[in-house]
Amino acid sequence: MKITRTLCAITFAMTFAGTAATAHAGEVEVLHWWTSGGEARSVAVLKSMMEQQGNSWKDFAVAGGGGESAMRVLKTRAVSGNPPSAAQIKGHDIQEWGRLGFLTNLNDVATAEQWGEVIPEVVANVMKYHGEYVAVPVNVHRVNWLWANPQVFKKSGAQVPTTLDEFFIAADKIKAAGFIPLAHGGQPWQDVTLFEAVALAVLGSEDYNRAFVDLNMDVLSGEKMVEAFTQFKKMHDYIDTKARGRQWNTATSMVINGEAAMQIMGDWAKGEFADAGKVPGIDYICAPAPGTAEQFTFNIDSFAFFKLSGAKEDKQAQKDLAKTIMTKEFQEIFNLNKGSIPVRLDMNMKKFDQCALDSMASFKATAKSGDLVPSMSQGLSTTSYVQGAIFDVVSNFFNRKSADPEMAVQKLSRAVKAAM
Ligand code: GAL
Repeated sequence: MKITRTLCAITFAMTFAGTAATAHAGEVEVLHWWTSGGEARSVAVLKSMMEQQGNSWKDFAVAGGGGESAMRVLKTRAVSGNPPSAAQIKGHDIQEWGRLGFLTNLNDVATAEQWGEVIPEVVANVMKYHGEYVAVPVNVHRVNWLWANPQVFKKSGAQVPTTLDEFFIAADKIKAAGFIPLAHGGQPWQDVTLFEAVALAVLGSEDYNRAFVDLNMDVLSGEKMVEAFTQFKKMHDYIDTKARGRQWNTATSMVINGEAAMQIMGDWAKGEFADAGKVPGIDYICAPAPGTAEQFTFNIDSFAFFKLSGAKEDKQAQKDLAKTIMTKEFQEIFNLNKGSIPVRLDMNMKKFDQCALDSMASFKATAKSGDLVPSMSQGLSTTSYVQGAIFDVVSNFFNRKSADPEMAVQKLSRAVKAAM
């Protein structure tokens, strides 16, 4: 009896799976830049969930943290009239693609799945162009984190810093003990990720927003900004001479293997610790970037969906993709691997570690206090034009020994003005 029932269940499952496969059998081509260990594990979850529904996945991965290369490749493909089904596009870029007429309307999926009821309104607004959903969020990353190796701190007799002053005290001790204080990858987007954390500590949330969201010239060229550049410049003394061009995940591995003590980086770094089998609180420490404990710099990854001219099945597969991304199942497994927190507010967080729980608590608290600020380095605070102008000034400054903070702020405000 039991066997018959089991057989029946298997037959039913097979029939069902078969039906699902023939009903869809569409293809989704997905562009992303998730190629590090932790990132690849995360995107593999989406691929497998799509395949389980009978769809096929064409991977369009373009390596390069921060996505600069991916965006360049995407532009060429889209302009030649052959965009992928979906692409990792976030923040202000979604509006830019919407304005160019490339994106498709996902309102039917959003309504059926009640997205509006499970994600914060601020997030929903980023996903919409002219009030219509054209993108789907996958996560919330906190960018202002410090990742630390407790063994290196112990051996150096240093304390994990909570302020910028403490950072420099700890960094001196670590350097004296023969370790690299700060693991860094010398690429413009990483230079700016570090700068942004320092600027947030120096400026505070209000002036951070005035500078990088409102593009207020007084703040961009003001005294506090000079101080931000001054502190930022000091950080250069604590990175190693081989930092130039290094990928962010290589920098993370320096903290993992005890070559370096700290990295200031978004919590995609946690995906690398997890991928290496490391446990938070034991093998590594996550702490807010110095001086920013009460603040949360947010980065929301999302996929924007393109208008397709191909087969009906592929359009259906595209809708399946949009729907899958917002399911609780996907949000849980993906974010456990990625280091971020789910974007849905109705999730059970039982399986998440302390770093993620702290991130979630801070996300909710800062949303009320006004200290939830969009990440400039990750394209959430302003257009790609302004962002590019800031990248140039900040990265050139960081890589020139003789660079002067007073002059940097003048260049910054001029460059931003020209890009507005
Ligand atoms: C960011 C992206 C993150 C992370 C990082 C490094 O731009 O939002 O998800 O993967 O790049 O590749």
